Amino acid sequence: MADWSGQDYSRVSALQRSVAAESLAELVVDGSEWILDIGCGDGFLTAEIAARLPHGYIVGVDASPRMVATAGRRGPATPVGPVYVCADARRLPFGRSFDMVVSFNALHWVPQLGEALAGVAAVLRPRGRALIQMVCAGTRPSIESTAMQVAGHPRWASRFAGFSTPFIHPQPAELRELADSCGFQVASMTVLDREWDFGTVEQFTAWCAVGSTAWTERLPESDRAAFVDDLVAAYEPVVGQAGLVRFMQVRAELHL
Ligand SMILES: C[S@@+](CC[C@H](N)C(=O)[O-])C[C@H]1O[C@@H](n2cnc3c(N)ncnc32)[C@H](O)[C@@H]1O
Repeated sequence: MADWSGQDYSRVSALQRSVAAESLAELVVDGSEWILDIGCGDGFLTAEIAARLPHGYIVGVDASPRMVATAGRRGPATPVGPVYVCADARRLPFGRSFDMVVSFNALHWVPQLGEALAGVAAVLRPRGRALIQMVCAGTRPSIESTAMQVAGHPRWASRFAGFSTPFIHPQPAELRELADSCGFQVASMTVLDREWDFGTVEQFTAWCAVGSTAWTERLPESDRAAFVDDLVAAYEPVVGQAGLVRFMQVRAELHL
């Protein structure tokens, strides 16, 4: 599991903040729910949700120790939390304790998505709900599939022997089937073709440097920037503009 830098993520995550803010604007809570935020990252969104739960409770869980450390340094947004826990989405250390699970831009980093969704179902109380926002499949190569291509180039291939694809971009129908098989009803599902202009290649490169941790952490420190530069160069023809990223996003509301 990649260990993302929480400090760097906090600096470069305007894109993730922006797309999650749209989902948060539509999130309906009565303020007393117990909520689990899976792949909470640096805790920014977890703290936003906590502020809407005066009588509730929220736990942020993330597999990356450095993300959890950054989240923990935020301090509690309310007298009762958030609480941050370092754990893998496939092995959640909780019982059936939550009214709601949210996950923003995280579950596409869990190739065993079915295991993660089964885990979501297992921590929800009866009639619990989940709001899952993640990258899904599209027709153009994604930044992550481009990273896999770069990893296969002769310059890098020897470093990636035995490396398995660290992400999944499911077809929306596949997500629906997995949700069904975990006992969920799909209350809504929207798919958007999104883009984000970072303004400069430097800012896009800084974002890629954090998002490509699963690849670069296999490399010596001295080679990481070169890998990211290769990724940025390989991705530009995909979207036809420097500093732009395009991705497919699925947002699903699931009910037990
Ligand atoms: C793009 S960040 C999203 C963070 C936050 N949800 C946001 O939208 O700002 C993806 C997060 O997923 C976490 N992650 C990846 N695989 C995970 C797993 N198997 N279990 C839990 N968290 C995971 C990463 O450590 C990272 O913090």
